[in-house]
Order: sequence, then C-alpha cells, then structure tokens
Amino acid sequence: MTAKAKLVLLTLFISIVLQLVLSQNLMAKSKGEALFKLCTQCHGMQGEGAYKLKAPAIAGMEKWYIVRQLKNFKNGVRGMHTKDIAGLRMRPMAKTLRYKGDVDKVATYVSSLPKTKNIKHMITAGNPEAGQGSYAMCMACHGVNGEGNKAMNAPALANLSDWYIKQQLQNFKHQVRAANPAKDPIGATMAPMAMTLADDAAIDNVISYIKTLKK
Ligand code: HEC
Ligand code: HEC
Repeated sequence: MTAKAKLVLLTLFISIVLQLVLSQNLMAKSKGEALFKLCTQCHGMQGEGAYKLKAPAIAGMEKWYIVRQLKNFKNGVRGMHTKDIAGLRMRPMAKTLRYKGDVDKVATYVSSLPKTKNIKHMITAGNPEAGQGSYAMCMACHGVNGEGNKAMNAPALANLSDWYIKQQLQNFKHQVRAANPAKDPIGATMAPMAMTLADDAAIDNVISYIKTLKK
C-alpha cells in the first residue's frame, strides 16, 4: 500500500470513529429528551414546576442530586409515607425509568436545562431579618448563597419555590421524608436540621431569607 493510500484509510477510519462517538452522544441526549416528555406533564415544558400539582422546578438542578432523588423514589426511600401526597405522586413516575441508563440520561437532560428565571412563590408570611439567624446553620451545608455543596450532599435552595421548601421542611421535621435513616443516610443528615425550626413562623422566616439570596 502506498503512503497516500494509508493516509486516506487512516483519515477514513478516524472520521468513522468520530461519527460513532458523536452519534452516541446525540443518542444519549435525545433519549434523555424523550424521557423528559413524561416529566413535563407535571414539572412543565421547561421544568419550571407547577404549584397546583405540587411539582417543584427541576430545570438546571445538580445532576448528582437529581440522580439520587430519582433512585430514592424508585427504591422506595422517598415518596413512601402515607402522608406524602406529593411524593406518592412522583414515585410511580421514577419507576417508569426502568432501563439501565434511563435515570442518568434524563438527569443529564434536566440538569442541562436553563434554570427558571421567575420562580413562582406563594407565601407572603415571614421576616427575612429573623430568618437570617436560622440560616446561619443551613449555610454550613447549603452555602452562603444557597448555591448547594456537593461535598455535603446538599442541593441548591436558591432556585426553589417557597411552597416547595416549606413542604420539604415539614416533611423532614415530621419524618415523612428521610423516615428511615438506614435506607436514607443522606436525608438523615437533613432531618435534625428541620427539627431545629420550632414552628411555622420559624419556617416562614428562614424561607423568606432564602428568597433574598442571589440566584
Ligand atoms: C404526575 C406528576 C409528575 C410527573 C409526571 C413527574 N413528577 Fe417529578 N415530582 C412530582 C411531584 C409532585 C414532586 C414533589 C415530591 C415531594 O414533594 O416530595 C416531584 C419531585 C421530583 C424531584 C425531586 C426534586 C427535589 O428538589 O428534590 C425530581 C428530581 C423529579 N420530580 C424529577 C422528575 C423526572 C425526571 C420526571 C420524568 C421522568 C418526573 N419528575 C415526572 C410530580 C411528577
Ligand atoms: C448537615 C448539613 C445540612 C444542614 C446544616 C442543612 N441541610 Fe438541608 N439538606 C441537606 C442534605 C444532605 C439534603 C439532601 C437530602 C436528600 O438527598 O434527600 C438537604 C435537603 C434540603 C431541602 C430539600 C431540597 C429539595 O430540593 O428537595 C431543603 C428545603 C433544605 N435542605 C433546607 C435546609 C434549611 C432551611 C436548613 C437550615 C435550617 C438546612 N437545610 C440545613 C443537608 C443539610
């Protein structure tokens, strides 16, 4: 074979490999996008959430956090308690992600969506100055600006709706979420934090402070 022929063959080979790699990436993206169709029914076309359905905004969430929550719902770690009306609705949806790689692909897609700009809030109660004191503790894991911290397994809070944060704080406090520390050791680090918020007023105050944080 001449040197020129070798070069032609080599170029051909490289271009085939490149095309394969690219098409695999595209396939992964389009599978994630296809799986997301179902999610839009409750979480909205852009993953912006829907108050009426108690579905939070999920667009642009950390992939590692989405993966863990989807696995928790799937494996009966979250969305199992009889009082967890919203979680019970989400659990069967996570179970539809039944093929290997489904959770990963849909999580990759959801985390790639741009974060919702005008997140919908519903609570008018709460005093941010009073809440700032309580947030000092939350900061250790969720960050100064509620940006989250992977090393602490703590998700961002700054882009969540107030009604959803309140529901989760009550769920953690009353062990509707993270009810089983053996099955949910990570959720179990959050539950005692919610328990430090004495009453509804303390919860509203800390949430009103979180709403002032930079997005
Ligand atoms: C039938 C409505 C419905 C559908 C469809 C649905 N979800 Fe949900 N999802 C919910 C509700 C309600 C919650 C809130 C659960 C709670 O309050 O604990 C939720 C919670 C979540 C959470 C946890 C968010 C957080 O901040 O912890 C993630 C992640 C999530 N859904 C992803 C998805 C994905 C991905 C799909 C598509 C495969 C999907 N959902 C389909 C209703 C739905
Ligand atoms: C010791 C670390 C730690 C501290 C301190 C902490 N959290 Fe958390 N928080 C976590 C972890 C870890 C999770 C994720 C649990 C899971 O994966 O289910 C979490 C989850 C949450 C969620 C649910 C987010 C979602 O998308 O569903 C809210 C809301 C929350 N924390 C608010 C707070 C508030 C408010 C405070 C302060 C009063 C606080 N946290 C203090 C570790 C912490």
